[in-house]
Amino acid sequence: MSSSRLTSSLYLLAFALLLQNVLGIENSFVRCVYGPNNMNATATSSYNTSLSVLLGSMNQLAPVEGFALGSLGQSSHDRPYGLLLCRGDVSSSDCRTCALLATSEIRKSCPNSRGGFIAYDNCLLKYSDTDFFGRIDDNTTFYMWNENNVSNPVVFNQKTVELLSQLATKASYNSTKLFAAGEMDLPEGSTKVYGMTTCTRDLSSADCKKCLDGAIVELLRRAYGKEVARFVGGSCTVGYQINPFVKA
Ligand SMILES: *[C@@H]1O[C@H](CO)[C@@H](O)[C@H](O)[C@H]1NC(C)=O
Ligand SMILES: *[C@@H]1O[C@H](CO)[C@@H](O)[C@H](O)[C@H]1NC(C)=O
Ligand SMILES: *[C@@H]1O[C@H](CO)[C@@H](O)[C@H](O)[C@H]1NC(C)=O
Ligand SMILES: *[C@@H]1O[C@H](CO)[C@@H](O)[C@H](O)[C@H]1NC(C)=O
Ligand SMILES: *[C@@H]1O[C@H](CO)[C@@H](O)[C@H](O)[C@H]1NC(C)=O
Repeated sequence: MSSSRLTSSLYLLAFALLLQNVLGIENSFVRCVYGPNNMNATATSSYNTSLSVLLGSMNQLAPVEGFALGSLGQSSHDRPYGLLLCRGDVSSSDCRTCALLATSEIRKSCPNSRGGFIAYDNCLLKYSDTDFFGRIDDNTTFYMWNENNVSNPVVFNQKTVELLSQLATKASYNSTKLFAAGEMDLPEGSTKVYGMTTCTRDLSSADCKKCLDGAIVELLRRAYGKEVARFVGGSCTVGYQINPFVKA
């Protein structure tokens, strides 16, 4: 069976959990991926053991470079693949805190799944029983925005696209961390728009750009004229807002 047929037979369950400022933590986005034909608990105990070891080692490694990638297990059937990414501008200690939280929450949220994804403002964590490294994940997508409208959506959208496109190019081709943040003046008054783009570091520059370009178009279509909006995906994230991003 080809891996794409296998993947397409997976039963996907997506839900977002709002952990509202418990522990001062931002929103989290969770997606659990169960096995073929809606069968749960396909995580065997050997898969589970490998997954625990893998998650533990990614927790150790991620704070060093802000990124960790690995797979572990003897037989291909029981081998989890994992990825842990901290946002390009967070400190090593904030990365560690976020990584530990993500690891424990994904285990609680998706205890028996062979695949899972969790994202916070500062980090994201993903694991799967199939090798996903270097492939754009179109299936894990969260879009969100606040309801406040800007006063001139046409100009605002235009400027925001311009900013985010520049940041997408910078993140893809001019950043070893595949991360870029910046701001742009808006014509009216002294207001600005602030933006941020990032990709998981298993992607090539070209795929990073492709992931971000697609996300920017879709985010601005869905969140047309909104003051604050975010896209969180399995391979890239995009955000813009009218106030500066507060460093964690
Ligand atoms: C996303 O889902 C589609 C349809 O279920 C599947 O064909 C595709 O392989 C999936 N992509 C990834 C990267 O998992
Ligand atoms: C799979 O697990 C979910 C959540 O634990 C549960 O609600 C659902 O009934 C289970 N489905 C099957 C087929 O066991
Ligand atoms: C896998 O490990 C998790 C977390 O330790 C546990 O909750 C779950 O029951 C385990 N599942 C299996 C199939 O061993
Ligand atoms: C923003 O605009 C939309 C569409 O015109 C409207 O439905 C919504 O109520 C507005 N939001 C606020 C907070 O005024
Ligand atoms: C990459 O970044 C450096 C330093 O910020 C800058 O000098 C250079 O022009 C950039 N290159 C491209 C292709 O954008």
